[in-house]
Amino acid sequence: MPKAQIGVYGLGTMGSALALNMAEKGFQVAVTNREAGWISEFIAEAGSLEKNLHPHELLEDFVSGLTTPRVILFMIPSGRPMDIMIDAIAPLLEPGDTIIDGGNADFHRTRARSAALAEQDIHFVGMGVSGGEEGARHGPSMMVGGTGHSWAQLRDVLRAIAARFEGDPCVDHLGPDGAGHFVKTVHNGIEYADMQVIAEIYGLLRYGGSWTPAEIGQLFARWDEGRLKSYLVEITARTLEFADPETGHPMVDVIKDTAGQKGTGRWSVVEAVRLGQSANMIEAAVGARSWSSEKDTRVAAQKALGGGRLALELDEGTLADAFMAVRILGYAQGFRILAAASEEYGWNLDYGRIAEIWRAGCIIRSALLDDISEAFAADLPEGQLILAPRFAEVLAETVPALRKLVAAAVTGGHAVPAMAAALSWYDTMRQGYGTANIIQAQRDFFGYHGFERLGQDGAHHGPWWE
Ligand code: 6PG
Repeated sequence: MPKAQIGVYGLGTMGSALALNMAEKGFQVAVTNREAGWISEFIAEAGSLEKNLHPHELLEDFVSGLTTPRVILFMIPSGRPMDIMIDAIAPLLEPGDTIIDGGNADFHRTRARSAALAEQDIHFVGMGVSGGEEGARHGPSMMVGGTGHSWAQLRDVLRAIAARFEGDPCVDHLGPDGAGHFVKTVHNGIEYADMQVIAEIYGLLRYGGSWTPAEIGQLFARWDEGRLKSYLVEITARTLEFADPETGHPMVDVIKDTAGQKGTGRWSVVEAVRLGQSANMIEAAVGARSWSSEKDTRVAAQKALGGGRLALELDEGTLADAFMAVRILGYAQGFRILAAASEEYGWNLDYGRIAEIWRAGCIIRSALLDDISEAFAADLPEGQLILAPRFAEVLAETVPALRKLVAAAVTGGHAVPAMAAALSWYDTMRQGYGTANIIQAQRDFFGYHGFERLGQDGAHHGPWWE
């Protein structure tokens, strides 16, 4: 039997879909799984693609069935399972081989694993894969971090299986070690913010405007035909159309209002703060999911504090403009974190290219990303999307609607944490002289910390105690 060009370890939803995608594109793919029973099931369901799949039950056979230098993609839960598998497989590998972690891993761990494996001349790639099962099967967006050697080994397979935007494969080598996983983490942070904004708009229409889920779905469907077009808008429109087969109620009405999270949104926020940034929209979205999980407390608080909300005058134009403003600000915050990390870790990230590979296949794909990639192609101060002339113009046109909507929501007692955060960030950033002078005075007053004085070098103190 000829040897396989790539190995896929882990035949869960994502691993199976990626292996089938590779086999369909004509690659010879070795496959294996911790639970051996899944392997024959997977092969039985592969149909005509079976001819390009090489199943193995033993790790040794899986490794020796690959052409060298080897490329092995792991699609397993991130964290401890990945460490266990690295320990198991590393002794079977040779210098020049590449292991890929295609899960949503913490990029700090990816950096540590890369450094440890580099000592054996084994290359470790942290690859973000976006698009869910459908994307993995028919075209994901992939964010690759690792060595040039690994990229040269992987490039052809990944380009073949990636989603395409006007023919351009949505995959690229973004930088060394943790760069790919970090870009995927921030992708997810933006995903969290966009999802939260959509949920907030839904809430305003449903509870402030008394719109039915179907009517809200139709509005999202209309938006999906214009400049707000995006995958998340499209699927929200779809979910709002459905009725529950059991009760006949709108499907969304029978879903419990608590949202889980696996960690990437939180990592984006933690890393932003660590880098001296604040992605307050992403933080608001992560926090809103946490609050959503406090169901019992919310039920008790509604009784104790009252859950009244005022009816709102809502017009489609205001909502659409507010959504546009807030979406730009969400992406802008994401790119700011990327820029800060790129500088800190010396990754030299190409923001325009990142926007390009997010244009198809991934969860945050949207019409706006095309404009973002073009904005980065022009001379734009590092990562500062809000300063791109075209976005400054759209923000000037749409922020008044955001202001109007947030003001109405707040006055009416409707929670809009992500939209309010966006507006606060925007209003903070557009003041060249803010209010931190007061913080500095307080610090100096209580702790003699000193402050910088306008127009003079050095540390200064106030006359507080003279
Ligand atoms: C993607 C998604 C995917 C997954 C998230 C969801 O890009 O395909 O982001 O990776 O849906 O991890 O994460 P939460 O469970 O934290 O919402």
